[in-house]
Amino acid sequence: MLIAGNWKMFKGPGETAAFCADLLQLLDDDAKGVDVVVAPPFVSLQAAVAELEGSPIRVYAQNVHWEEEGAFTGEISRSMLIAAGAAGAIVGHSERRQHFGETDETAARRASAALEAGLGVIACVGETLAEREAGETEAVLRRQVEAIAVAVPEPPGELDVAYEPVWAIGTGRTATPETAQEAHAFIRGLYPVERILYGGSVKPENAEELLAQADVDGALVGGASLDALSFTEICRTAARLSRS
Ligand code: PGA
Repeated sequence: MLIAGNWKMFKGPGETAAFCADLLQLLDDDAKGVDVVVAPPFVSLQAAVAELEGSPIRVYAQNVHWEEEGAFTGEISRSMLIAAGAAGAIVGHSERRQHFGETDETAARRASAALEAGLGVIACVGETLAEREAGETEAVLRRQVEAIAVAVPEPPGELDVAYEPVWAIGTGRTATPETAQEAHAFIRGLYPVERILYGGSVKPENAEELLAQADVDGALVGGASLDALSFTEICRTAARLSRS
């Protein structure tokens, strides 16, 4: 199981160092056996890496470009992330797709380049409310997943896919465990990726029922990952379920 915290545009270097120190204190033996990732903003990567050094908690960026360098204002390269100590990156998040013109193709290019450089990747897919209501969920997931599969035909263990229904992100409206399971099983049938994470309003109160689903192998947590206590609570639930 993998529990990843996507901090989005929250926490500068100072807050990041304080959060990571708390996390190390809180993530005791109860949370052993679960992979933990935090994904702070770019400027806070080094603070997180420094604070978490020597611990199994890995630090991911929230994006990565496929070129080594060049005229790509606002982007960041794989080697820059590696130099900052990051172990991987999230790609294709729906907020990138909705607000910043990310496409299936660019998300796939990012994923493939990052994996080539030895970084881990969490590649995000998921339908909008309008797409779900129009009965297009499977078609959308197929299109998004196939773009990744074309770029990375044999998914390595370092690639995780996150199913994040857009209507469940930051809305407090979680997919039911059955809806999540159905989408995860569909994705698994398309692409033999080892772990499929669920994301969208995951909280300590609903983590157990979601993580207990057969094809849910972890969670990508936004809002609830900003608080060390609630994030730890979700990690503990995952650890308990992986032991049972
Ligand atoms: P949320 O965000 O947990 O705040 O809904 C999840 C995500 O966007 O990764």
